[in-house]
Amino acid sequence: MKVLIINGSPRTDGNTSVAVKEMVRTFDTEGIETEVCQIGNKDICGCIACGKCAELGRCVFNDEVNDIAAKFEAADGLIVASPVYYASANATLIACLDRLFYSSHFDKTMKVGASVVVARRGGCSSTFDELNKYFTICGMPVASSTYWNSVYGRLQGEAAFDAEGLQTMRNLAKNMSFLMKSIALGKEKYDLPKKEVWNPTHFVRDDLK
Ligand SMILES: Cc1cc2nc3c(=O)[nH]c(=O)nc-3n(C[C@H](O)[C@H](O)[C@H](O)COP(=O)(O)O)c2cc1C
Repeated sequence: MKVLIINGSPRTDGNTSVAVKEMVRTFDTEGIETEVCQIGNKDICGCIACGKCAELGRCVFNDEVNDIAAKFEAADGLIVASPVYYASANATLIACLDRLFYSSHFDKTMKVGASVVVARRGGCSSTFDELNKYFTICGMPVASSTYWNSVYGRLQGEAAFDAEGLQTMRNLAKNMSFLMKSIALGKEKYDLPKKEVWNPTHFVRDDLK
């Protein structure tokens, strides 16, 4: 059982890493493998809406996003962790997630998702909501904790002093482990839910054309 963790911070030993490491330690005790991909320091451009991924099943730009897609397909859960920039996730992470979710066509149903946000002071809730949207459009249940998944700190490493934030990270990793293990059992017993064929209407009614 494996969790893929995308760290959106450009700072390799920043506060987002402090939050991520706290979860990794808890996943270790739960017997769950983890892999961290730090992408905030990578040159990742946004989606150019070329539509090529519909033919290729991957993004036309062959960078970290396609590597992450292969790892995501093999994982049972995905954590997306971001520093808060202007009450939003950082731009490189959003570029990565837009392309990752749009271009990859494997079934994400019942892979467990969780988002983690790290800030000096404000914008955690809006960023948390923003990141959870990627999971809830594609059948991914979202793991939660004993508080919204936020950790506070400004200077590099300061988050290590946010005791409540770190406790929230440990509880999140425990809940996510339980959810992934339960889903694995549920899949054996009941199989994945059958989906209807997608019927996109784009809010346009044929009878009004
Ligand atoms: C461009 C930029 C914008 C930021 N915007 C916010 C913000 O809106 N709210 C906030 O509380 N902190 C903000 N911060 C501070 C970071 O969220 C904070 O320092 C965080 O700990 C950085 O995480 P990291 O060390 O993992 O990179 C901003 C930092 C930068 C560089």
